[in-house]
Formats: sequence, C-alpha cells, structure tokens
Amino acid sequence: MKTAIYPGSFDPVTNGHLDIIRRSAKMFDKVIVVVLINPLKNYSFSIMERRELLMKATKDIPNIEIDSYDGLLADYFNLREDVDVIVKGLRATSDFEYEFQMAHTNMHLNPRAETVFIPASIGTTFISSSMVKQVAMFGGDLSAYVPAVIHETIRERLTSEFAEKKRIAELRKEHD
Ligand code: COA
Repeated sequence: MKTAIYPGSFDPVTNGHLDIIRRSAKMFDKVIVVVLINPLKNYSFSIMERRELLMKATKDIPNIEIDSYDGLLADYFNLREDVDVIVKGLRATSDFEYEFQMAHTNMHLNPRAETVFIPASIGTTFISSSMVKQVAMFGGDLSAYVPAVIHETIRERLTSEFAEKKRIAELRKEHD
C-alpha cells in the first residue's frame, strides 16, 4: 500500500490543486491532502474552513483523506507512519526553484521525506489561489478556476473581506 501526502495552503483549493489530487489518487493507494501553514502568508480562510472546502471539492474521490497540521511538514511526515512520499505540482519552471528548495529542506529535516513532482495539466498552469481570490473579490466568474460546489462560500467570504478593506481604507482617509 503506497500513501502520498499532498501538502499546501489551499487558501482556497482550486481546480489546479484538484488536477494534482485526482491524478495522484490514481497513482497511489491513498492520498492525504494536508492543510499546512506558510507563516509568511496572510490567509483569507481559517484552517477548518480550508479543510471544509477541500472536503466538499473532493467528495467524489474515494481514496483521499483531508487533514491539517500546525507545524513542519517534515514532522507531520514522521507522525504519520503510513506515508511514503510527498507529492507537489509544478505549474511552470518558475515554481521549480521554490519547490526544489522546499523538497531539499524537507529531506534535510527528515531523510525519509522524499518529494515527487507532477507537472500541472496545461489548462491549470495559470491558476493560483490569489488569482481566484482577486476574481472573487470583484464578483467575477469563478467557474473555470474552482469547483461549483464551493463558489458561493468563496464569493461570500472574499466580497465581505474586500468590503471590510475598503471600509478601513475610507476610515483611514477620513482620519488623515
Ligand atoms: N495548480 C494551481 N495552483 C497551484 C498549484 C497547482 N497545481 N500548486 C500550487 N498552486 C498555487 C497555490 O494556489 C498557491 O497560490 P498563492 O500563492 O496565490 O496562494 C501557490 O501556488 C503556492 O501554493 P503552496 O504549494 O500551497 O505553497 P504555500 O507557500 O502556500 O504553502 C506549505 C507551502 C504550506 C506546504 C509550506 O509552507 C509548508 O510546508 N508549511 C509547513 C511548515 C514547513 O514545514 N515549512 C518548511 C518547508 S520548507
């Protein structure tokens, strides 16, 4: 039985992530999609919300598990004795340097934590979570970027986040 971990921020999950999840679920007996924290990022969704969005978006894939961890990926790898490999998607050569660095850091921290890369499908190479968030903030059409089942949650959260940002900017202007 071969088990892979697919780690990421998933803020929110996109069709690009789902491309990698679906394809790795065909290659491995089980795929654990784990929501982790990149401390350098500001997130729009809480860990629980990101897990829920992932659960809704992957309901039809039988051999996956959704999990989250508030620590190093290398430590999560150790905690889960059932995992064999980390899976990451590569959208373009620009992803490579960052992913290469992360793969080596993870292996340095935990020599068992080997990473394999899967090339993103052509139609998903331009998608990113920040791009999805920008489109949602301005009420744009999300249908090509995220599954329909999570459109509404994303739209609601991002339009209210944007309204709040505008309100704070106006208050600051009045104050200055
Ligand atoms: N298709 C479309 N978009 C994709 C994609 C794909 N196949 N793969 C990644 N992306 C996008 C994501 O949406 C995200 O977009 P954004 O920057 O606009 O938000 C971007 O690519 C990066 O995604 P991700 O791979 O999730 O990287 P990240 O920097 O957000 O998170 C963690 C990386 C969470 C996995 C990493 O920080 C981590 O392991 N954290 C735990 C602590 C740790 O161990 N740190 C040391 C590791 S070196």
